[in-house]
Amino acid sequence: MVGGGEGAYIGNIHRIAARLDGQWDLVAGAFDVDPDKGRAFALSQGLDETRAYGDYQALIAGEAARADRVDAVAICTPNFTHYPIAKALIEAGFDVICEKPLTATLQDAIALEELARRSGRFVGVTYTYSGYPMVHEARVRIAAGEIGAVRTVQVEYSLEWMATAIEQQGNAQAAWRTDPTKNGRGGSIGDIGTHAYHLAGFVTGLTLESLTADLATFVDGRALDDNAHVMMRYDGGARGLLWSSQVALGNSNGVRLRVFGETGSFQWFQEQPNELVYQPLGGRVQLIKRGSDEVSMDAQVRMRTPPGHPEGYLEAFANLYAGFAEAIRARTAGRDPGLLGQNLPLAYDGLKGVAFVEAVVDSAESEQPVWLVPVAV
Ligand code: NAI
Repeated sequence: MVGGGEGAYIGNIHRIAARLDGQWDLVAGAFDVDPDKGRAFALSQGLDETRAYGDYQALIAGEAARADRVDAVAICTPNFTHYPIAKALIEAGFDVICEKPLTATLQDAIALEELARRSGRFVGVTYTYSGYPMVHEARVRIAAGEIGAVRTVQVEYSLEWMATAIEQQGNAQAAWRTDPTKNGRGGSIGDIGTHAYHLAGFVTGLTLESLTADLATFVDGRALDDNAHVMMRYDGGARGLLWSSQVALGNSNGVRLRVFGETGSFQWFQEQPNELVYQPLGGRVQLIKRGSDEVSMDAQVRMRTPPGHPEGYLEAFANLYAGFAEAIRARTAGRDPGLLGQNLPLAYDGLKGVAFVEAVVDSAESEQPVWLVPVAV
């Protein structure tokens, strides 16, 4: 792991998720921007001192020289460091699991995706919400035509933790997130809007063609947006509305998706992640429960407990890690991956996410619609 040291947020979630199914061990790390703190944290995690590295360059050099080198490296650092760290890892022959947004700039995202593709290295991107079984269930059912052609998608990610100027009061996470040189051009839209954008596209299978965005910064002195409204047009004519907000008082991690088709609709809210709500045209509201007999194999392979024993965020994250392990094993063995190793967020999804953020900021700044240029594959 690179990043995720003492006091960091997402690194610890990665450590729990990676180990939940016994598919990964944490054996080496450069956990902190401060080399001494990073090494001390590694030792506190029980790592061998020869694998407690001061920085990612030392990690790459040290691991490349070992017969038992790491299988993959998770990047859990602020956005602007993803590109140089991932690039160096891929060039040294390592597979990578990278946090979103893939990079802080579109230029870097294009370069990284191309490098990943040409090198054949695995690059997974942790779009957390695509790990939930009931999100897969919605995807499978929409693909099977259960609600007919999709007409409109309403998706949002709203939270309140940046509703005041916490970046000016010593909050490290908020500090880099509000600094355009470290975060990238999109504030709420880059931090959490990217999750919503990916979730909507993942579940519906639709490709975004154009968007019109309105960004706002409500907290005084903040350099980036903390609230975004985006009107979206998908291929085939479907419409979408996306809201991301870091100033939505009362909301903790309000990830909500509603998809309306010609013959029915699906609704999935992260705070009730074990339920998918299905409403057919003119029919009764139906609750599809995680673990029930009627759910697809795609969802079933992503469950561990029987219905009524809730699974949530950590398990969804663990599903991504289990999927990454399966995809890497399948590649090594030269076979097709099983269901867990399919439909994973990869470098191209990361690139599309960064392109989306750039388009949103361009649209807001120009007060014009922006067409998404298909990026090369
Ligand atoms: P954080 O500020 O809590 O932690 C960053 C960590 O990276 C710190 O330990 C810091 O010392 C370390 N670091 C910084 N530069 C480094 C370098 N060059 N080498 C080694 N370590 C370095 O940040 P947080 O909130 O954990 O976010 C990290 C990344 O995870 C961001 O890209 C963010 O967008 C993403 N994230 C994703 C989430 C998800 O749901 N998938 C949720 C939260 C964050």
